[in-house]
Amino acid sequence: MREVHRAGGVEHQDEAQRDERVRGTQRQGVDEKLHRRHAAVIASTIIPSAPSTGSGEGSPAEDATARHSREILAALGMTGVPIPETRPYAGLTLPAALRTTRSMSVAFSTADRPPAAVTGRSDTRAIGRWLAVVAAMIFAMIVLGALTRLTESGLSMVEWKPVTGWLPPLGDAAWQAELAKYAQSPQGRLVNQGMTVAQFKEIFWLEYLHRLWGRLIGLAFALPMLWFLIRGRVPRWLKPRLVVLLLLGGLQGAVGWIMVASGLQDAPAVSHYRLALHLVLAISLYAYILWLAFGLLRPAAPSPLAGDRRVGRAAAAAVVFLFVVLTFGAFVAGLRAGQVHTTFPTMSGYWIPPGLLELEPAWLNFVATQTGTQFAHRWLAKILVVLCLALWVWARRVDATAPVRRATTMVALMALIQLGLGIGTILTGAELAIATVHQAGAVLLLSTLILTLRRAWPLQDALAGPARTG
Ligand code: HEM
Repeated sequence: MREVHRAGGVEHQDEAQRDERVRGTQRQGVDEKLHRRHAAVIASTIIPSAPSTGSGEGSPAEDATARHSREILAALGMTGVPIPETRPYAGLTLPAALRTTRSMSVAFSTADRPPAAVTGRSDTRAIGRWLAVVAAMIFAMIVLGALTRLTESGLSMVEWKPVTGWLPPLGDAAWQAELAKYAQSPQGRLVNQGMTVAQFKEIFWLEYLHRLWGRLIGLAFALPMLWFLIRGRVPRWLKPRLVVLLLLGGLQGAVGWIMVASGLQDAPAVSHYRLALHLVLAISLYAYILWLAFGLLRPAAPSPLAGDRRVGRAAAAAVVFLFVVLTFGAFVAGLRAGQVHTTFPTMSGYWIPPGLLELEPAWLNFVATQTGTQFAHRWLAKILVVLCLALWVWARRVDATAPVRRATTMVALMALIQLGLGIGTILTGAELAIATVHQAGAVLLLSTLILTLRRAWPLQDALAGPARTG
C-alpha cells in the first residue's frame, strides 16, 4: 500500500498537529456515528486525491490506492459518505489507519461494540491473566535460582532426569545413595569432602525445589494452553507465540542442565558463560510472557500517539541495554567477582584498578576476569541508570500520555533502587539476602520497562476483530 510521503523537516510538527486532532476526535466520542467515521477516516487517510465531498470517483486523478479504498468503503456499505475537511490520519498507511480507527472504535464505542463473547475479548483477558501467573512463577524461579547459586546448592544433584526426577530420595538408603553419587563429583571431592547426610540435605533441597518449580511452571504453562486450544479460545496470532514459549521453556531446562554439567567435570564450579546464558534465557522468557500478558490485559487502547511512540522506541533501547548489563552481572556472579573490590564508588580505591588489562587481547578481561567483569558491570549499570532517568525526563518532553509517563516514573524509581541494591551487594561482598534482592531488582526494573513499552505500544492484534481461532 502506498504511503503518503512527507517532507522530513516538518514531520514532527505535522505529527504533533495530527496527535492534537486525534486527541480532539477521541474526546468527542464516536458511538452512534462509528461506521460513518470509519468510512470518513479511511477515505480521508488514503484517498489523497479525493475531494472533500467524497466525489471524484472514477476521475483520472483516482489511482489504484484510491480505487482500493473505495472498494473497502463499498464493502462497508458506505459509498457517498462525506469526507471531513480535516485529515487526522493523513500520512498513515492503510494498515496503520485501519488499526487506528479500529482501536479507537473499540476504545470509545459502546453502541456498536459487539458483546465480549463475540469478540473474544474476555478470552484474551483470561489468557492474559494466565500468562501473568506464569510470569510471576518465573519471577519466583529467578529468585530461587539466585538463592540456589549463592548457597552453592546448584551442584548437589548430579543427574538429570527430566521426567522421573521429580521425587526426592525417599528413605535413608536412598539419601545415602544420593550422597555417594555427589561425593564422586568435583564439588563433593574437593569442597565438601566427608559431608554427612544431614549437611547434604541442606544443599540438596534448594536445587531440588528449583528443579521441581521448573516442572511446575512447565505444567502451569502447558495444561492451560492445551485447555484454551482445545476450547478454541486462543486467537490465531497468539498460537505460534505460545508454541515458541513452550519450546523456549524446554530449552531453558536443557540449558540449566548443560550449565550444571559444566560443574561436574573437573572444577567444582559452573562455567560463568553458561550461567549467564541460563539467566538471560530465563529473563527473556519472563520478559516475553510479561509483554504478552500486559498487552492482553489492556487490549482496548487507542493507537499510540507520536510522543508515546518515541518513548516506546527509547524504552526498547533501554531494554536491550539492560540485557547487556545483566549479562555482565551474571559474569560477575559466576566468577564470584562480587567478593573482590568491595568498595564504592572506587574499586579498592582505584577508578581504574591495577590489573584491569592483564589479559591479551584487552576485551577478554571484561568477560573473563573478576576485576574486568565487575568493572564492566559497574559502569554499564551506571549508564543504564542515567538512561532510565533520561527516559523519565524524555517522556515529559515529548508530551507522552499520562499512563506512559507514570510507567517511566516507575522505571526511574526502580533504577535508583537497583543502583542502591548493587552498591549494597558490592559493599557486603555479595551477602546472600542483598545479592538475591539485587537479582530480583534487575527483573523488576525490566518489568517496569516492559510496562512502559506496552503502554507506549499497545497490543493491536487482539483488536483486529473476533478471536480468530483458526
Ligand atoms: C542498575 C542496574 C543493575 C542491574 C540491572 C544489575 C543486574 C545484575 C544481575 C542480573 C546480576 C546477576 C545476579 C546473579 O546471577 O545472581 C548482578 C550481579 C551483581 N551486580 Fe548488578 N546490576 C545493576 C547494578 C549494579 C551496581 C551499580 C553494582 C555495584 C556497584 C552491582 C554489583 C553487582 C554484583 C557485585 C553482582 C554479583 C552478585 C552475586 O555474586 O550474586 N550491580 N547484577
